[in-house]
Amino acid sequence: MTPKVLSAINQQVAAEFSASFSYLAMAAWCEHHQFTGAGHWFRLQSQEEHAHAMKLFNFLIARHHPVALGSIAEPRATFGSLLEVFEAVQAQEKVVSQQIDALYEMAFTEKVFAAMAELQWFITEQVEEEKNVRDIVAKLRMVKDDPSSILDLDRELGARAAEPVVGA
Ligand code: FEO
Repeated sequence: MTPKVLSAINQQVAAEFSASFSYLAMAAWCEHHQFTGAGHWFRLQSQEEHAHAMKLFNFLIARHHPVALGSIAEPRATFGSLLEVFEAVQAQEKVVSQQIDALYEMAFTEKVFAAMAELQWFITEQVEEEKNVRDIVAKLRMVKDDPSSILDLDRELGARAAEPVVGA
């Protein structure tokens, strides 16, 4: 491990916790606006991001490196519509993918091969996450303001099943 990569992984731990907190805020907005299905979806998404943070946290511990937990900014809490919430998710996940790519490139340049192996999982996960949210945004744009279609979609989001916790 090099100091540069160690610092970047520590920052990514905070970024994943920030994502978790941000999705929890979105769950709150959805449930406050009676979108209980979307609220469920965001609660699970928040848990997944927490698991991502813990995966990196556990990696640092396993490699006997110090963990330096950074601060988490207050997440956005107000949105104009369910579509706006998911567009915010889409933008957020794009940023995370860029962060992971940059981290992977740094690990490669610095020849930190164990970190590269660990980050491989995150690269695959981001492909999946970006696809999932792209599909939801596309459907929400399709149904526009039709209340019954939005409620159908909300029901669909409520059927999301929890995934096994990574690294458990
Ligand atoms: Fe852990 Fe959705 O990034």
